[in-house]
Amino acid sequence: MKLVIGGDHSAVDLKEAIREHVASRGHDIVDLGTNSRESTDYPVWGRLVGEAVVRGDAEAGIAICGTGVGISITANKVRGVRAACVSDPYSAQMSKRHNNANVLAFGARVVGVDLAKMIVDAWLDAEFEQGGRHTHRVALITEVDEHYRGED
Ligand code: RB5
Repeated sequence: MKLVIGGDHSAVDLKEAIREHVASRGHDIVDLGTNSRESTDYPVWGRLVGEAVVRGDAEAGIAICGTGVGISITANKVRGVRAACVSDPYSAQMSKRHNNANVLAFGARVVGVDLAKMIVDAWLDAEFEQGGRHTHRVALITEVDEHYRGED
């Protein structure tokens, strides 16, 4: 699978560990930055990850900031993004199975490296339960997205 990963200054070390981990599983993962520890604005990176996914540069993205909250809020503003901010493998798995999350977000100040790897694995290994109620519910999410979209 082709993925992108991005995060703010708080996420540099965890992002690199996760990038390596995902690549070691045979995925093609592109690092969108930042790779600087200088303070930067998480919306910049959430937007980059979200836009790369909806543009089709990658099938899915991973977004990391201090809490995962700001970067996931931002990514979710990009039309077509379903970003899930999680801190446990169960939620990560369900975010794919039920919500078809195309961006996974978590906090570098919340989860350690090993837990983050488990979270990423749970999400990567899960599949969206296509057909039936979950397809209907995700379509309802898209409806909201479409209803509130502004002019480009
Ligand atoms: C940066 O200090 C921090 O606010 C950011 O990484 C993130 O946690 C925001 O939601």
